[in-house]
Amino acid sequence: MHVAAIIVAAGKGERAGGEQPKQFVDLGDGRTMLDLSIDAFLSCSDVDEVVVAVPPGFADRVRPSARVHIVEGGARRQDSMANAFARVALHTDVVLVHDAARPFVTRDLIARTVAAAHQYGAAIAALPVRDTVKRTHTVQGARTIRETLPRDDIFLAQTPQGFRRDILGDALAAGAETAVTDEAMLVERTGIPVHIVEGDFANVKVTTRHDLWQASQRLGVAGIGVPVLSDGVSGPSPGRRDVSAMMRIGTGYDLHRLVAGRPLVLAGVRIPFDRGLHGHSDADLVCHAVIDAILGAAALGDIGRLFPDTDATWKDADSIHLLQRAVGLIRDGGFQVGNIDVTVIAERPKLLPYVEVMRTNLARALGIDVALVSIKGKTNETVDAAGRGEAMACHAVALITGIRRP
Ligand code: CTP
Ligand code: MG
Repeated sequence: MHVAAIIVAAGKGERAGGEQPKQFVDLGDGRTMLDLSIDAFLSCSDVDEVVVAVPPGFADRVRPSARVHIVEGGARRQDSMANAFARVALHTDVVLVHDAARPFVTRDLIARTVAAAHQYGAAIAALPVRDTVKRTHTVQGARTIRETLPRDDIFLAQTPQGFRRDILGDALAAGAETAVTDEAMLVERTGIPVHIVEGDFANVKVTTRHDLWQASQRLGVAGIGVPVLSDGVSGPSPGRRDVSAMMRIGTGYDLHRLVAGRPLVLAGVRIPFDRGLHGHSDADLVCHAVIDAILGAAALGDIGRLFPDTDATWKDADSIHLLQRAVGLIRDGGFQVGNIDVTVIAERPKLLPYVEVMRTNLARALGIDVALVSIKGKTNETVDAAGRGEAMACHAVALITGIRRP
């Protein structure tokens, strides 16, 4: 089954106000609602490709990924939707549609929607109402209750909404002139039954400035103080932090012997020296320690388990690539790297001339700003194997952050 997810992110965000549309506001930890929404779909193994509709001029605000395509949106949500639909692979079985303004969608909810859409042809996430529901009208200028609706029948529509490709295509074509607020409305009009999938109360839609602030709170940004959104918004009731924030810390350590006839490679930089580190791969112990730190933080095992030296695939492997693979794994687990701090223990050579390019290499592999990568060199005062120049060692600490996606 081929599944494509459309994320509509081409709105103006007028109700939220601000200098830029709400889906592009940094929530305080470098991520936007759009990043979170895209990450949720990329982390779901049911989803093969993601098509994002953005306003004109915003294409470069989407993090590049081989599985993400970008299209320009239109004036109405359904126009953005139609542009994205045209980009979906023809052999797609199920098309999901999701609002970028629902950044807390979970992998489970996506999977439930895919399964139901595949089974029934059309299915949306929706929530039962908890309050008593009144239909009202205006009598002599005053809003008055007309009737109480049977609550059990009322559901509040969320996204994702999933449809077999042909069903959605026909509905879009038939309803091009009708103004709708979700795709299910278009499908309902064609007479095809749309099934309800149990939604998620945490899958809120961010509409106002206050919602945006609450979303940033929910990330538990940095865990220190109240996050202030990058365009100057702060919330009205500082201090409360949602339980769904996740911060994890991990450490990594590596040591390799120095031997003649091997290149010395540290953090992807080939450093001129009379000896190099002995090992199965390129023996880049900086990358190895960082891999163990981020895997350790996510409790995803260690480098030996992931890239065993008994496996010929990793012989002379470029450790920067191994690091990129490890970053992919923690991303799949819903995390991103916050910052890293590395200490390299080497009696010689002096590392200072290479530290900047080492930091740049690591930052690139980790997908973070170089300001979040620290590398320090240390000598061991001629004591022990590293101190006598027989080996080099490296310690790394990594902070990773994520949101709980149950
Ligand atoms: N959307 C879109 N194209 C449009 C209008 C909306 O892709 N022409 C997207 C929004 O970016 C959002 C989703 O549809 O992810 C739900 O819309 P809404 O929450 O109403 O967002 P906005 O239209 O941007 O906000 P507002 O109505 O306050 O201007
Ligand atoms: Mg709108």
